[in-house]
Amino acid sequence: MAMWTATSLVVWSAVAAALDIRAPLNLTNAGDLSYYANIELNGKDFRVLVDTGSADLWVAGSVADSIDTGLQGEVKYAVGGVKGPIKMANFRLGTYIVPNQTFMLIEPDDQHPEGQGILGLGPSTGSFITDTLPSPTGSPMLYRYFHQNLTTPNYFTVLLGRDRDPTDDFSGAITIGEVLPEHADILDQPRLEIVRLPQHREDDQHLNILLDVDGLIGPDNLPIRVSSVVPIAEDKSRLTVVLDTGFTLPQVSRNVAEAIYGRFHGAEYVSVAGVGNTYILPCDSEVNVTFRFAGHAYPMHPLDMTMDPSALGLGSVQNSKGELSCVATFQPFSYDRGASPTYDMVLGMAFLRSVYTLFDYGDFIPSSDEKYPPYMQLLSITEPSEAHADFVAIRLGGIDVTPRPLTNSTKTRTDSGDEDEAKSKRTHAAAIGASVAVIGVLLIVAALMVARARRRKLR
Ligand SMILES: *[C@@H]1O[C@H](CO)[C@@H](O)[C@H](O)[C@H]1NC(C)=O
Ligand SMILES: *[C@@H]1O[C@H](CO)[C@@H](O)[C@H](O)[C@H]1NC(C)=O
Ligand SMILES: *[C@@H]1O[C@H](CO)[C@@H](O)[C@H](O)[C@H]1NC(C)=O
Ligand SMILES: *[C@@H]1O[C@H](CO)[C@@H](O)[C@H](O)[C@H]1NC(C)=O
Ligand SMILES: *[C@@H]1O[C@H](CO)[C@@H](O)[C@H](O)[C@H]1NC(C)=O
Repeated sequence: MAMWTATSLVVWSAVAAALDIRAPLNLTNAGDLSYYANIELNGKDFRVLVDTGSADLWVAGSVADSIDTGLQGEVKYAVGGVKGPIKMANFRLGTYIVPNQTFMLIEPDDQHPEGQGILGLGPSTGSFITDTLPSPTGSPMLYRYFHQNLTTPNYFTVLLGRDRDPTDDFSGAITIGEVLPEHADILDQPRLEIVRLPQHREDDQHLNILLDVDGLIGPDNLPIRVSSVVPIAEDKSRLTVVLDTGFTLPQVSRNVAEAIYGRFHGAEYVSVAGVGNTYILPCDSEVNVTFRFAGHAYPMHPLDMTMDPSALGLGSVQNSKGELSCVATFQPFSYDRGASPTYDMVLGMAFLRSVYTLFDYGDFIPSSDEKYPPYMQLLSITEPSEAHADFVAIRLGGIDVTPRPLTNSTKTRTDSGDEDEAKSKRTHAAAIGASVAVIGVLLIVAALMVARARRRKLR
């Protein structure tokens, strides 16, 4: 590569600034519950949830001069779904433009407010629109974007900010075919190959990667003992995890949640309105957890391991001893993964705030020049001592106290049976959720539900 002279660098920077060439698109952080991008369809603005767990674009409302394909579409998520006509319009996300992008237009209602929607960024085998209108016409936005210019690298990156972080003030960003200059070293991180599902399961393909052996380090600094429940996994000592920007609360097995939270003083497993079954624990519990991928450590920010109930639109939450408690963010699975799961965990927003993530679609993109398999790169953006100081400032009123010792785990759990339990209690949790909604947090509950959106095709 040619070396830059000082002058040419200055000239280039001026040109780049004038043309706005590096133009990451800032995301809006809705209270750490969901992250939205502003897009345009034929010049009209929409606010869309950024969702790597689904592959279709829909918006609620109207788009002038959109082309009607005459076809009807339906997208199903783990919770809920949407239906409407499939249309085409010119798409714009910051400086990223795709002419004639297909999308579904939804009739606005309380659950799907006018001007909002979901932008699915997941693998196209999960697209419902392409079931009805095959590619290339029906292809998801990213696929069309990469396809229309084969010299653009086939990747996008996502950075999620933390609400009320005392030291890092950004809301989040998304880039396509380029990286955030301040985190350019993500390109030097190990490439984590995306686990491909066999063809007969490809409808369920998500952005899955493998955790290292002993790759989940618990609050006592020891690896949490785990075993994969994915039947097609070759090595059961490595968990298959999905990275999903559309999930507010990461989903884990009951025994992983127990190992993370169960040993803290005052921790209890309860049903929380609008959230479902999860642990609650005193808000001063500093939960330190680290994930390991390809030998690299990714420490979680303790502020993301538990959530203040007010952030969930709830009043105070107390445990049975009457102690004010926070809600655990790594939640035992709140939905049924089916008889033959393809993943062990969903690492949603509470995980993703501690890392900067690059998703490279490689040869997922048909007929692209890229012949390598799809992969991800993760850059840790959480420095443990700074994160600890943030926790002390926010949760401990600035006073660093010696933590209470962890109690020894009394329970041993197996993964089997977790979901039955979750399922039987879900109806109950939903009923409480509904009554809370009536007293005025409808939007928050709706946000959580929408943010849980993910594809599960019914066969
Ligand atoms: C978009 O589709 C319309 C109708 O099919 C066509 O006339 C137009 O040329 C297309 N525009 C682009 C940029 O492909
Ligand atoms: C294609 O992408 C490359 C790299 O992102 C860019 O330099 C080039 O201008 C693009 N070409 C067109 C026609 O958009
Ligand atoms: C995007 O966010 C960055 C970091 O917070 C900020 O410096 C920049 O001004 C924002 N850009 C826009 C267009 O809001
Ligand atoms: C969590 O980790 C930080 C940084 O290593 C450390 O200062 C703090 O004491 C740890 N907290 C607990 C409860 O282990
Ligand atoms: C708790 O665990 C530690 C180390 O794992 C062990 O030394 C200790 O005896 C245990 N205490 C109880 C009460 O079981």
